Amino acid sequence: ESIEKGGYPHFMLKEIFEQPRSILDSMRGRMIAESDHMMMGGIREFENKFVNAERILIVACGTSWHAGLVAEYLIEDLARIPVEVEYASEFRYRNPIISERDIVVAISQSGETADTLAALELAKSKGATIFGICNVVGSSIARATDAGAYTHAGPEIGVASTKAFTAQVTVLSLIAMILGSKRGTLETSKLRQLMVELESIPSKVEKALELNEQIIKISEQYKDATNFLYLGRGYNFPVALEGALKLKEISYIHAEGYPAAEMKHGPIALIDEHMPVVVIATKDSSYEKIVSNIQEVKARKGKIIAVVTEGDTTIPAMADHVIEIPETSEHLVPLLSVIPLQLLSYHIAVMRGCNVDQPRNLAKSVTVE
Ligand code: G6P
Repeated sequence: ESIEKGGYPHFMLKEIFEQPRSILDSMRGRMIAESDHMMMGGIREFENKFVNAERILIVACGTSWHAGLVAEYLIEDLARIPVEVEYASEFRYRNPIISERDIVVAISQSGETADTLAALELAKSKGATIFGICNVVGSSIARATDAGAYTHAGPEIGVASTKAFTAQVTVLSLIAMILGSKRGTLETSKLRQLMVELESIPSKVEKALELNEQIIKISEQYKDATNFLYLGRGYNFPVALEGALKLKEISYIHAEGYPAAEMKHGPIALIDEHMPVVVIATKDSSYEKIVSNIQEVKARKGKIIAVVTEGDTTIPAMADHVIEIPETSEHLVPLLSVIPLQLLSYHIAVMRGCNVDQPRNLAKSVTVE
C-alpha cells in the first residue's frame, strides 16, 4: 500500500497533488487552442440534441453535485441553455417533469451511486437523452447512458473526492464551451481566450499546490475549531459548498458553505471571535460585493481566511490570513480556488488524528439508497 501511495502519507494527499496531471488528462485530445478546435467523441453523436436542448437537467450526489452546480453557471453563461441541478435522491422521488427534449446529465465519479443511477433510469423512461460523466470506465452509470465523456482522473481511492471533482469541472467546462460555440452564444475570440486559459490551468494548479506549507500553518491555528463557515459568490459559491463538505467529511468539524450574500439571512448570527470564516474572494465580477461581506464578518470579530487572486492589495488589509492563487478567468476559477480548501481540510484532519482516507460512516461509493 505504501508503494501505491507513491511516497505520500495518504491517498488523499497524493490525489490532491495529482491534479495538474488529472486535469490535463481530462482535457487532452479534446481541444486544440490554436485552431479553436474542440472535440468530444461522446457529444458528437448527440450534438444536435444537445445544442437544441430546451433544458439540461443535471443529476448527481455529493461532490459530483457540486461540480454540477459549477456547470450550471458555465452552461447558462456560455451556452444560454437553462440548467437545473438536482440531488439525484430528491429528483427520483418527486414526480419530476421530464420531456424528450430534455438532456439529462448524470455526474458520478464511481458510476455506481444508486440514487444517481435510479434518477437517470427514471429520466430515460420518460424519453430524455442521457449523458454521463463518469470516472470509472464501464461502470453501471456509464453503461446506462446514451452517450458520455469520461473524466480521466485515474483511480480515486481517498473517500473524500478531490481530483475527480476538478476532472469533472474540466470536462463540464469543455462541454459548456463546445455548446456555446455551436449555439453562437460564445464569440470565437472569447472561446479562444477560454481555451488558452484552460490549457494553462494545470501549471497554475501546480503553483497553487506550493501553498501547502502556508496552509499547514493556518491549519495549526484552527484545528480545534468546532465550526467553520465557507463563503463564496458566483462561480466560487459551489466551491464554498465543496470546501465545507471536505472539512466535514474528514475532520468531523461542523462546517457550512453559503452564498456570501445569504449570510445576512441567518449564518451571520453565528459569527463571533471563535468562528473561522473561509471566504473565496478572487478578482471577478462579484469582487466588490464580497469585500463588503468580509467587512461584515470582521465587524463581528470573525476570523477571516481569504482565498484571493495573486497581487490583491485590498483584502490583505482586512483578513487574518490570505491565500493567494494565480489569476484566471472567472469561468475556470473553481479549478484553482478549490485546491487550498482541499489542503486545509486534509491538514486539519491529519492534525486531529482522523482517518483521512477512510472517514467514519462514509463510503467511497454508495450503492444503496
Ligand atoms: C459518496 C462519496 C463522495 C461522492 C459521492 C457521490 O458520498 O463519499 O465523495 O462525492 O458519494 O459519488 P459519485 O461516485 O457518484 O461521484
